[in-house]
Amino acid sequence: MSRTENGRSGYSRVAIALHWTIALLILGNVAGALIADSADRATAGAIMAVHKSIGITVLVLSLVRLAWRLAHGFPPLPAHTPRWEAVAARANHIAFYVLMIGVPLAGWIMVSGGDRPLTWFGLFDIPKLPVSAGTAKAANGAHEVLAFTTAGLVVLHVAGALKHHLVDRDEVLSRMLPLARRRS
Ligand code: HEM
Ligand code: HEM
Repeated sequence: MSRTENGRSGYSRVAIALHWTIALLILGNVAGALIADSADRATAGAIMAVHKSIGITVLVLSLVRLAWRLAHGFPPLPAHTPRWEAVAARANHIAFYVLMIGVPLAGWIMVSGGDRPLTWFGLFDIPKLPVSAGTAKAANGAHEVLAFTTAGLVVLHVAGALKHHLVDRDEVLSRMLPLARRRS
């Protein structure tokens, strides 16, 4: 597998577009769920309908992102990166892939135990998964724990990216930015 996406030292436009689309949708979904928690019933229902549709979108996009990464590889970290930091970044990325797929999957399993229809932005029905009431209940707990774990990892991830940019002054952040000039 090539470790330098398309032979370059940066991420491809597809990888960058997927990274930022998925990141914004996940952060929007966490914010939406927290707002819904303290909103009135009707508003919460409307927010959560969008939440579920966005979540299913994240699930599909994350599978595409994973397939892209497995097919195209990823650029190596700069040579000066300490080993502990490379290992931490790798672990964080693997954890993100597990969560980007696991959180919406747990949400889908959770709502499959309920009576409400599941639609994608009201445009078409999403099938319910054949799960027992016990599995749906367990998925509810997993959904919450995994979603907040994701939020915690985002804090570490952003801290790492900013450290590269402000302390190490390398290209790790700019190679993931859509409009930054590539150095390679
Ligand atoms: C990007 C993916 C997702 C993220 C980051 C996310 C995040 C969250 C968070 C933070 C909560 C609040 C937990 C709490 O305060 O109890 C929540 C609740 C909820 N989510 Fe998601 N979610 C995602 C995808 C989904 C999907 C795909 C579905 C269903 C198809 C879903 C259905 C729900 C429901 C029904 C609740 C309310 C649970 C309750 O009140 O017991 N979520 N989600
Ligand atoms: C929910 C939010 C986010 C998720 C799930 C996420 C996930 C990921 C993942 C899985 C990677 C590994 C590369 C890949 O396969 O795409 C990555 C790389 C990266 N992310 Fe994020 N990210 C999020 C938010 C952010 C934010 C807010 C920043 C801004 C500071 C950021 C900056 C970066 C950078 C600079 C890289 C490249 C690191 C490298 O080249 O090794 N990410 N992100």
